[in-house]
Order: sequence, then structure tokens, then C-alpha cells
Amino acid sequence: MALVKRFWIWCTQHVLLVTVLAVLSLSVMALVNIEILHMTSEPEFCAMCHPGHGFGPLAEVDSWEHSGHAAAGVSCLDCHGRPGPLGYAKAKMGGLKDLYMQFTISKEEKMAILSNPDADLVPMEQCLFCHSDSENQKYRENHRGPLEIVEMRLLDHVENPDFRQRKGLPDILSETQVGGTHFDHAFHMESFDLTCRDCHFGVVHQPKSKTERMNQCITCHSNFAETSAPQIADCTVCHQVQLDMNIGQGAQGVAGETSLMYGADISCEMCHTGVASGVYRPSASNCTDCHEAAYREIYQEWGSETRNQLERMHALRAETENALKKADEVRRDTKNGWEIYRTALANLKFVKSDGTDGVHNRFYVQDILETVEADFNRILNDLKHTW
Ligand code: HEC
Ligand code: HEC
Ligand code: HEC
Ligand code: HEC
Ligand code: HEC
Ligand code: HEC
Ligand code: HEC
Ligand code: HEC
Repeated sequence: MALVKRFWIWCTQHVLLVTVLAVLSLSVMALVNIEILHMTSEPEFCAMCHPGHGFGPLAEVDSWEHSGHAAAGVSCLDCHGRPGPLGYAKAKMGGLKDLYMQFTISKEEKMAILSNPDADLVPMEQCLFCHSDSENQKYRENHRGPLEIVEMRLLDHVENPDFRQRKGLPDILSETQVGGTHFDHAFHMESFDLTCRDCHFGVVHQPKSKTERMNQCITCHSNFAETSAPQIADCTVCHQVQLDMNIGQGAQGVAGETSLMYGADISCEMCHTGVASGVYRPSASNCTDCHEAAYREIYQEWGSETRNQLERMHALRAETENALKKADEVRRDTKNGWEIYRTALANLKFVKSDGTDGVHNRFYVQDILETVEADFNRILNDLKHTW
């Protein structure tokens, strides 16, 4: 008793010191907790029990690592946990269940669960929170309290249209040019009661090819189906960007010319000769249908040069976005910078969405990528020189 009393007296004599110490130890505890939360949300942690390689069950971390989402900084709990602190907490509780199951079920039982994910494992609203404006705003309005308390993950900071535009993404519920394709999400989803999963079955964890995606459309858009849907033979109804690329239009502020071949009346089907047999994608051997063998090398050269350029541009894009965000934080005038950024990003996406590394219109692609590089560099230079 005497000891406690003496301690109390000491405390009253050193109020300031005691307060500082108390605050300090509380913050250390909070920090440690947050650190634990952070650590157990990292893909490296998930990989302890989801360690496979390639695609499919058990390989969820590896497949994610090679996805466009990972490259854009979208991590596990951005999809596997609803927005807001409560959604985050719930996802962490799910983690506790994972932990318990890991030690109580057999390997076979675990594989069975991972091989048959619930159709609603990642609900459609989760995707639309990032990929549309209306669903993002609806969730934000109906959500009580702040969505972000401490910096935990990307999801809680997603506010559209700003996020979408920074990443160069369309509002899929209101825009009908998505990726490189003319496609009306709202019409198709409402008319045929489809969910994201029906078409984007390969998103992140499953290996699915573009051919499989096109075949999905062909179930209705094929010559033998009796519908009002446009037919497969008309490639350009869906492949808007590839048509534009062949014609030499579609990039903002970069004049183009029709590609040498499209201009010489070489139509889509004359290169895409395998369509009737279900092979949509041509390769170098299609060039030699009309040209001599050496044209294979031209084809390889176009591809590797364009891929290198695209890789550099993607890095430059990320650098520019970060520089602009930093400048915003210190309240510099970035209005003009963001405007140039959006144009450059749209042009970069245009080339990426065409998906042919320059084959459809080599000269146009080169001009576009040079303009993109100059635009990003101009923004970075302006940020360095003006205050
Ligand atoms: C201690 C091992 C362990 C760790 C660590 C772990 N998981 Fe799991 N996970 C499992 C097991 C076992 C299952 C299957 C049983 C179940 O559904 O809980 C599973 C299933 C899942 C499922 C599917 C649930 C369902 O109902 O189909 C998801 C999603 C998931 N984990 C995500 C994650 C994420 C994200 C992380 C990292 C933040 C993670 N896991 C870390 C062991 C683990
Ligand atoms: C862009 C959103 C997204 C991201 C990011 C994401 N997932 Fe998934 N995940 C999904 C979807 C969608 C499914 C359901 C798969 C289906 O419908 O077939 C899924 C399914 C799963 C499953 C169930 C088993 C399976 O293989 O289908 C596990 C486990 C899982 N994810 C773990 C992870 C881990 C771990 C990470 C981070 C390394 C991660 N996910 C990142 C969207 C995502
Ligand atoms: C946290 C926000 C976020 C969530 C949640 C999210 N995405 Fe994405 N998504 C992105 C970003 C950012 C990109 C851009 C990636 C890039 O630059 O290539 C993207 C890209 C895509 C693409 C373009 C192709 C690709 O794979 O890169 C598709 C398709 C897509 N998302 C579908 C989905 C679906 C389906 C879901 C739900 C299962 C989902 N997304 C959940 C942010 C998100
Ligand atoms: C009937 C099939 C279908 C359904 C259902 C569907 N999509 Fe798509 N989606 C497509 C096609 C086709 C594209 C264009 C692919 C391309 O050209 O890269 C696309 C493109 C996208 C893109 C990429 C946009 C870009 O600029 O890269 C996103 C993001 C996306 N869809 C999200 C979703 C989400 C979220 C859902 C569910 C709410 C959904 N989609 C449902 C067929 C579908
Ligand atoms: C379940 C059947 C079905 C599937 C699957 C389907 N569509 Fe359609 N689509 C239709 C019908 C029916 C119409 C005609 C609507 C009308 O008459 O206006 C249509 C119209 C269209 C149009 C022209 C209308 C417009 O928006 O201007 C395009 C382009 C299109 N679809 C693209 C696609 C793509 C790309 C896919 C695959 C990702 C796809 N569709 C999958 C049934 C389908
Ligand atoms: C009804 C819409 C539609 C029509 C018509 C259509 N496609 Fe497609 N096609 C798609 C979609 C959707 C994809 C997948 C795009 C993606 O995911 O990026 C695709 C993918 C492709 C691919 C990539 C295949 C791969 O696996 O790499 C090629 C090549 C292609 N289409 C060529 C054609 C040609 C040539 C025609 C005309 C004979 C045609 N398409 C008609 C919707 C269509
Ligand atoms: C000179 C021959 C040639 C012509 C003409 C041509 N293409 Fe292609 N296309 C190709 C080659 C080669 C590829 C594959 C490139 C690669 O794998 O890098 C391709 C790829 C594609 C793809 C797949 C893109 C992706 O996202 O993966 C689509 C879609 C496509 N072409 C549509 C069209 C359409 C529509 C037309 C007509 C407006 C057309 N093509 C005209 C040679 C041609
Ligand atoms: C259906 C026939 C056909 C196919 C297939 C074809 N081309 Fe051509 N190509 C032509 C024609 C016609 C011209 C125009 C010749 C002219 O005006 O001098 C041309 C022009 C060219 C040129 C312009 C310079 C020159 O040397 O004449 C290049 C380069 C070229 N093609 C490369 C390719 C590549 C690479 C492929 C494969 C992706 C390919 N072509 C596929 C018919 C074809």
C-alpha cells in the first residue's frame, strides 16, 4: 500500500512527465496494433496459406501479382472487404476464420472451398464502387461516419469521378466505349440479368483469354442466332478502337493517316483469316500470306519496339501522377497539369487498348507515343520550375 501511495505522490509532483509518458505508451500500443493490422493485410501474409503459382485455387497471390489490378495498386482487401472501417473489420474477422480453418480442415477440404468460390464472394457493388460514379456516390451517401480513419488501403479513398479519371478508367454504367470495345454494360446487364462475373470470369485469379471473352458475345452475336444483335462478321461494330487505329484517328491532338495496308483496301478479315475456325488472333505467319518471308522480322521488330516504349510510358505515367498528387498536397496550381495528364493518359490507353503493339498502324502509334512522352515530361518539368 505504502508503495502505491508513494508512487501516486510522485506522479502528482511530475504531472507533465506522467502525461507525456502515458500518451506516448498509448500511441505506441495503437501503432503496434495498426502495424499488425497492416502486416496481416499484406499479400505476403496471405501468401503463407495461399502459396501456389500460376492461376487457380491456392495461387491467388501469384495470379494477383501479374494482374492489371496489382499494377494499379489494388490489393486483396480492396476487393475482399467492403469500404469503410466496418467493412475492413469484417474482412479481418474473415481472416480469423481462415486461420481457424487452416488448422482444422484437411488439405482436400481447403482445395474444395477455394475451387468453388461463392458467386457473391466479391459482390457486384464492390466492383462498381470503383468502376462507376453513381454506385460510388450512393455508397458514400448512405454510409454513416467517415470512410477513412487511418490510411489502411486504397479502397476507402476511392472517390469518383476523381479516382476513375486519374486511372484513365471509364464509368462503365454510363459510357459505351470501354477498353477498346464498343459495349454498353448497362443495357446488357439489365436486359439479360448478367453480373460482372459472367464476362469478367478471369478477373485477377483465373486464366481466361480474349478469345473466350469474344465467344461469350458470340452466343448472341452470331450468324445463326435469331436476334436483333449485330453479327460477328461486322468486326467494327464492337472493335471501335482497332477500327480507329487502322483509319488513323481517335487520339487526342495527334493527326494520323490511314495505315498503309488498310489504305490499300486490306480489310480486317484479310489479315484475320482464322475467324471462321475460331482463331481470331493472327500472327507473323499471316504476314507472309501476302509478303515475303523477311516481313516476319518486320513484324517482330514493330512488336518489341512498341512494347519497350509502352513499358517506359507506364512508368512515366505513374511518376507523373505521383508528382501531381504531391503538388496538390502542398496546394500548388495543378489544373493545367492534370488536364495535360488526362489527355496523355487517354492517348496511352488508346494504344494499349488497340492491343497490337503497333501492327494496325505503325506510324500513327509512334507519333502518339512520342506525344505522350512529351506531355508527361512537360508536366514534370513545369512542376520542377514553377512555384
Ligand atoms: C493461416 C492461413 C491463411 C492466411 C494467412 C490467409 N488465408 Fe485465406 N483461406 C485460408 C483457408 C484455410 C481458406 C479456406 C477456408 C475458409 O473459407 O476460411 C481460405 C479462404 C479464403 C477465401 C475464400 C473464402 C470463401 O468463402 O470462399 C478468401 C477470399 C481468402 N481466403 C482471402 C485471404 C486473404 C485476402 C488473405 C490475406 C489478407 C488470406 N486469405 C490469408 C487460409 C488462410
Ligand atoms: C479486383 C478484385 C480482386 C483483387 C484485387 C483480389 N481478388 Fe481475390 N477474388 C476476386 C474475385 C472476383 C473472386 C471470385 C472468383 C470467381 O468469381 O470465380 C476472388 C476469389 C478469391 C479467392 C477464392 C478462391 C479462388 O481462387 O477463387 C481467394 C482465396 C482470393 N480471391 C484471395 C485473394 C488474395 C490473397 C488477393 C491479394 C493477393 C486477392 N484475392 C485480390 C477479386 C479480387
Ligand atoms: C479499389 C478499386 C477497384 C476495385 C474494387 C475493382 N477494380 Fe477493377 N480496376 C481498378 C483499377 C485502378 C484498374 C486499372 C488497371 C490498369 O490501369 O490497367 C482496374 C481495371 C479493371 C479492368 C480492366 C482490365 C484489367 O484486368 O486490368 C477490369 C475488367 C476490371 N477492373 C474489373 C473489375 C471487377 C470485375 C471488379 C470486382 C470483382 C473490380 N474490377 C474491382 C480498380 C478497382
Ligand atoms: C456481357 C459481358 C460483360 C459484363 C456482364 C460485364 N462486362 Fe465489363 N467489359 C466487357 C467487355 C467486352 C469489355 C471490353 C474489354 C476490352 O476491350 O478490354 C469490358 C470492359 C470493362 C472494364 C475495362 C474498361 C477499360 O477501360 O479498361 C471494366 C472496368 C469493366 N468492364 C468492369 C465491369 C464490371 C464492374 C462489371 C459488373 C458490374 C462488368 N464489367 C460486367 C463485358 C462485360
Ligand atoms: C444474351 C445475349 C447477348 C450477349 C451475351 C451479348 N449481347 Fe450485345 N446485344 C444483344 C442484343 C439482343 C442486342 C441488340 C439490341 C437492340 O436491338 O438494340 C445487342 C447489341 C449490341 C451492340 C449494339 C448496340 C449498341 O450498344 O450500340 C453491341 C456493340 C454489342 N451488343 C456488343 C456486345 C459485346 C461486345 C458482347 C460481349 C461482351 C455482347 N454484346 C454480348 C445481345 C447480347
Ligand atoms: C459482338 C462483338 C464482337 C464482334 C462482332 C467481334 N468481336 Fe472480336 N472480340 C470481342 C470481345 C469482347 C473481345 C475481347 C476483348 C478484350 O477482352 O479485350 C474480342 C477479342 C478479339 C480478338 C483477340 C483474341 C485473342 O484471344 O487475343 C481478336 C483478334 C478479335 N476479337 C477479332 C475480331 C474480328 C476479326 C472480328 C470480325 C470478323 C471480330 N473480332 C468481331 C467482341 C467482338
Ligand atoms: C495487316 C493485317 C491486319 C489488319 C488489316 C487488321 N488486323 Fe487486327 N490484328 C492483326 C495482328 C497481326 C494482330 C495481333 C497482334 C499481336 O498479337 O501483337 C491483330 C490483333 C487484333 C485484335 C486483338 C487486340 C487485342 O486487344 O488483343 C483485334 C480486336 C483486331 N486485331 C481487330 C481488327 C479489326 C476490327 C480490323 C479492321 C478494322 C483489323 N483488326 C485489321 C493484323 C491485322
Ligand atoms: C492480305 C494481304 C496482306 C497481308 C496479310 C499483310 N499485308 Fe502488308 N501490305 C499489303 C499491301 C497490299 C500493302 C501495300 C503495298 C503498297 O502500297 O506498296 C502492304 C504494305 C505493307 C508495308 C509497307 C511497306 C512495304 O514494304 O510495302 C509493310 C511494312 C507491311 N505491309 C507489313 C506487313 C506485316 C508486318 C503484316 C503482318 C501483320 C502484313 N503486312 C500483312 C498486303 C498485306
